[in-house]
Amino acid sequence: MTASHSSPAAGRLEAIEITKQFGSVKVLEGVNCALTPGRIHTIIGENGAGKSTLFKILSGLYLPSDGALHLDDKPIVLGSPRAAHQRGIYLVPQEPALMAELSVAETMFVGQLPTKGTLFGRVDWPAAKREAARALAALGVDIDVDHISKDLSIAQQQQVECAKALLRGCRIILFDEPTSPLTSHEVARLFAIMRRLRDEGYTLAFISHRMDEVLDISDDISVLRDGRLVDSVTRGNFDRKSLLSKMVGREMSIGLRRGRSTATTEPVLSVEGLAREPRFRGVSFTLHKGEILGLAGLIGAGRTEIAEAVCGLTPKTAGKVTLGADDITHARTSQIIRHGLVYAPEDRARHGVVLPMSITHNVTSSLLERVKQRFGFLDRNDERRIAGDTVRQYRVRSSRLDQPLSELSGGNQQKVVFGKWMSTSPLVAILDEPTRGVDVGAKDEIYELIDELAAGGLAILVISSEMEELVRICDRILSVYEGQIVAELTGDEITPDRVGASYLSHAHV
Ligand SMILES: Nc1ncnc2c1ncn2[C@@H]1O[C@H](COP(=O)(O)OP(=O)(O)OP(=O)(O)O)[C@@H](O)[C@H]1O
Ligand SMILES: [Mg+2]
Repeated sequence: MTASHSSPAAGRLEAIEITKQFGSVKVLEGVNCALTPGRIHTIIGENGAGKSTLFKILSGLYLPSDGALHLDDKPIVLGSPRAAHQRGIYLVPQEPALMAELSVAETMFVGQLPTKGTLFGRVDWPAAKREAARALAALGVDIDVDHISKDLSIAQQQQVECAKALLRGCRIILFDEPTSPLTSHEVARLFAIMRRLRDEGYTLAFISHRMDEVLDISDDISVLRDGRLVDSVTRGNFDRKSLLSKMVGREMSIGLRRGRSTATTEPVLSVEGLAREPRFRGVSFTLHKGEILGLAGLIGAGRTEIAEAVCGLTPKTAGKVTLGADDITHARTSQIIRHGLVYAPEDRARHGVVLPMSITHNVTSSLLERVKQRFGFLDRNDERRIAGDTVRQYRVRSSRLDQPLSELSGGNQQKVVFGKWMSTSPLVAILDEPTRGVDVGAKDEIYELIDELAAGGLAILVISSEMEELVRICDRILSVYEGQIVAELTGDEITPDRVGASYLSHAHV
């Protein structure tokens, strides 16, 4: 069927002088990049640099505006993902969209069920299940093929996607930022799968914003900046500092722990005995003016649920929440926002922003209510000024202020979310995964901004699954395990090892 997996050395995919233009905007320009069998090639670059666009071209989702793709030194044209699959190329998307009610085996065979040799090709289910199970086993993954897909974790969904690639005989597998929604344990498992495939001669490509991961897993690293390839280096010649500098086009300092604390002893938000059974219980803490308090824990520990209950998004079964002098336990979310508490949720597509709306409208939507109360209306010039300030302050990469958010890269969308909430000048900000999918340069800027906001008196609660992030910015950390606070760390106790141990020690008992 396909020539690409007939010999083990096949599977060299090359982008030659690839250019991609959307309207008048050039997103990729003259990019040369070669993916080689038996190697993991990582593309790094700031938000909006063009990484996902390059992967989409390599996997048949987009046609290039100019340039060519070569597979094993022969030119190919990919008009669709299906055409790419037939050539042995498979893209594992960041959060795979699985068919809700289908079993794992059904999901894996969508569009290509094995049939018995009858006229109308009756589906041979036992054979399909056996093949699905074999593909999963080849990855060392233990997932029941009769399981309903929608109940799988994101990590498992990615594993199923890898198995789908194998089932389709694909030898070239591209992973677009697979690790950002994963826990460190899940990342380790994914990397084990990727290494296994690499060692069997597969061609792998990877995107990540986490430099530790990149340095750990890559055989080759290519750096994209503003749509151009600025460097390609191979293992042995990597150096974190120079890679970072090439990404951002200037010298980068490597992140340090927050030097000075601006925490005061003045309580702003106080949570007593908060519960929402069966998710969490007995949660008590006080957040002070100028303080940055972190919630650490495994994904699913209940941190987001706690934040949602504090903000009045979900009902509480017990407890009391006080903001300044006001009891907000039973207040509605809109009242809570008016009292000065904002919540920037982790899933920006769910309730952080409206993707089809423009940058301007997204930034100013959180202000509308307040401004309306004060002045009666929000002038169009005011809107543009506020949105323009946000775009500049957070270095949002966009071609124009009325650009729909859906056209921005993931990281740039995150910056708009952040700007949207901060423009309301709150007393307390709850930031859930504030830098998910944000590049290193922009992360630094967001950390500095969080620091400045705290210095200005803002009380900040941060939820993050990135240990480095919590260790770097927090004055104090509470560890959450299975819906309860199990430890509190301050000052010199805040190291990645100690924070990790504070909840993991509970996981092993
Ligand atoms: N369909 C589109 N129409 C217009 N512009 C687009 C479209 N898709 C992407 N872009 C623009 O192309 C640029 C590159 O986007 P891309 O998604 O490739 O970035 P990225 O490097 O993957 O960034 P991130 O790290 O944030 O995921 C961005 O400026 C984005 O706004
Ligand atoms: Mg991307």
